[in-house]
Amino acid sequence: MAEIFVARADDMADGDRRIVRTNKGEIGVFRHKGAFHAYANRCVHSGGPACEGVLIPKVIELIAEDKTYQGQTFSEDEMHFVCPWHGYEYNIETGVFAGDSKLKLKKYQIVERSGDVYIVA
Ligand code: FES
Repeated sequence: MAEIFVARADDMADGDRRIVRTNKGEIGVFRHKGAFHAYANRCVHSGGPACEGVLIPKVIELIAEDKTYQGQTFSEDEMHFVCPWHGYEYNIETGVFAGDSKLKLKKYQIVERSGDVYIVA
């Protein structure tokens, strides 16, 4: 395992990301709610660059007690990123695919030291 420099922590604001090329392939690093999360930039669907997709809050279906559909809203707690090839959505904090929790992106450990951010890969 090697530590691969990503960025100075102060250079990544919330919502920022970096795509880092490593000898294990590209790794996407997100900053979200102050924390860093790193995943293989290889979608579980067909290998697309999942970590390069747009960020969007989880969409929540609103169902009334009588089971009638009331529309949709966005989660205030769960952020997703969306693979640009065919739209697979992943939880930014876990890398789990929103459509099937058995599927997830490979996650990498992050180390912060002296204000620098590294991936352990
Ligand atoms: S390759 Fe990512 S959704 Fe198809």
